[in-house]
Amino acid sequence: MSRTHRRILLCVWIFCITSLVVGVEDIQREDECADLNTTTWMEYRQQRVKLRVQYLLLTRRNMDCAEMFDQESLTETQLRPSYFNISRPTKVIIHGYRALGSKPSWVKQLTRALLGAQDVNVLVVDWVYGASFAYNLVVENYKEVAVQISVLINQLQKHGCKLESFHFIGVSLGAHVAGFVGTLFDGKIGRITGLDPAGPMFKGADTFDRLDPSDALFVDAIHTDSDYFGISIPVGHVDFFLNGGKDQTGCARSRFASILVYFPVYGYVICDHMRALHVYMSALNSSCPLVGIPCFSYEDFLQGRCLDCDVFKGTCPTIGLSENSGIAISSVHKEQKLFLLTTSSAPFCSHHILLQMEVSPLDKSAEVEVTLTTESLGTEQRLRLQKDTTVYRTVLSHPVALCEIDTITLKNTGARFYRQGDIHVKSVCLSEFPSLRREQPLCVNNIGISRGAPWSHDFVQVCDTF
Ligand SMILES: *[C@@H]1O[C@H](CO)[C@@H](O)[C@H](O)[C@H]1NC(C)=O
Ligand SMILES: *[C@@H]1O[C@H](CO)[C@@H](O)[C@H](O)[C@H]1NC(C)=O
Ligand SMILES: *[C@@H]1O[C@H](CO)[C@@H](O)[C@H](O)[C@H]1NC(C)=O
Repeated sequence: MSRTHRRILLCVWIFCITSLVVGVEDIQREDECADLNTTTWMEYRQQRVKLRVQYLLLTRRNMDCAEMFDQESLTETQLRPSYFNISRPTKVIIHGYRALGSKPSWVKQLTRALLGAQDVNVLVVDWVYGASFAYNLVVENYKEVAVQISVLINQLQKHGCKLESFHFIGVSLGAHVAGFVGTLFDGKIGRITGLDPAGPMFKGADTFDRLDPSDALFVDAIHTDSDYFGISIPVGHVDFFLNGGKDQTGCARSRFASILVYFPVYGYVICDHMRALHVYMSALNSSCPLVGIPCFSYEDFLQGRCLDCDVFKGTCPTIGLSENSGIAISSVHKEQKLFLLTTSSAPFCSHHILLQMEVSPLDKSAEVEVTLTTESLGTEQRLRLQKDTTVYRTVLSHPVALCEIDTITLKNTGARFYRQGDIHVKSVCLSEFPSLRREQPLCVNNIGISRGAPWSHDFVQVCDTF
């Protein structure tokens, strides 16, 4: 054997041994840490939709390595004691419909965010087997999943867990699974949070069959795709409708997306639907508050008709884990629609600024572009001015607080078909809401804006830190 041959042989050996060792390590790691199941179309067809529900447990002591959890996990005969701590509250995460049988990719992120915020037990309900492929068959499964979960909860109660210490977080269809678990326990579960609760086949359903405020002591929901995959009616004590609850900033329009649902661009299509989850995870980080303002409709909200939280004694409900979303609930507060505007990426928080403008009567309709700027950030809004209207109110979403806005610019953008003359603005005022301090609005009076010559004004102001 030549020297070269020997070298090659040696290299092959090293390669084999390395891969063997790495392989063994892999197997061990998989052995120790549980994971969500996945299924394929082939398996699905062979199994004939057998429902399989399993549970993963994560706590601060095993953040990165889930433990398989079942009814037997707390019995004393177990080889290894479970990480489950009976004296701590429990969060139960329930995923929704899995079109392609894959496991949900966000579970780790949500679990980490929850454990970062609170020292709790996190149980992840894995029902991928029952949640995949045909939506209508999946909907048939959801109550059976709830029944199986209730068996586990009963068992945990026997070990000393209190019903009110359970907080279910259900995504899409998972929200209705949580709702049915709540029904089975007569609404005595502590809390249910629905993240864009599923709409198709549920909107017209009886409250028995869908998530509703009677399912838990407190029910909150975030709506982000209520015209498509989400439900458009309020289902909790408080219901946050983000940007009106239908279309989210930075996502493709649903009208367009509905054509694409038949093509493999699922992630793109469900952008609106999954926004509820992403906003919720971001809120758990609590980098900035996401507060909802009660209002009858989104149109009313955008016209600045709802500026305070007086129905909640002045405290606005906040997205996240604070008890009862930060409000004192009473029987009055049920199915309360709350509105808020968000930005298109994390942390999503936006400031609500009311723009009020009064103009002298016009002889023709016109258009004005309003821009608010802070350093490099700008927010634009076009206002259509009508012949007979002189007072305008509109709500703008701005990434920073009113006190940080440097400049307001008004531009007479003209009309398409005729030469537009000058516009006389009697006053333009900005105020931020909801504001407990009821600051004076920032106003500029008596402005003439001619075509082609934008007007702008610099504000000299500082943010007080009280
Ligand atoms: C999926 O679940 C089945 C039965 O519960 C189990 O045999 C299988 O190992 C699981 N697969 C994974 C990847 O966890
Ligand atoms: C269980 O939780 C309680 C209350 O938070 C704590 O005092 C106790 O140390 C925990 N037990 C274990 C084994 O971590
Ligand atoms: C939460 O904050 C951490 C660090 O502050 C960041 O890495 C993570 O991406 C944030 N998660 C979400 C969901 O915003």
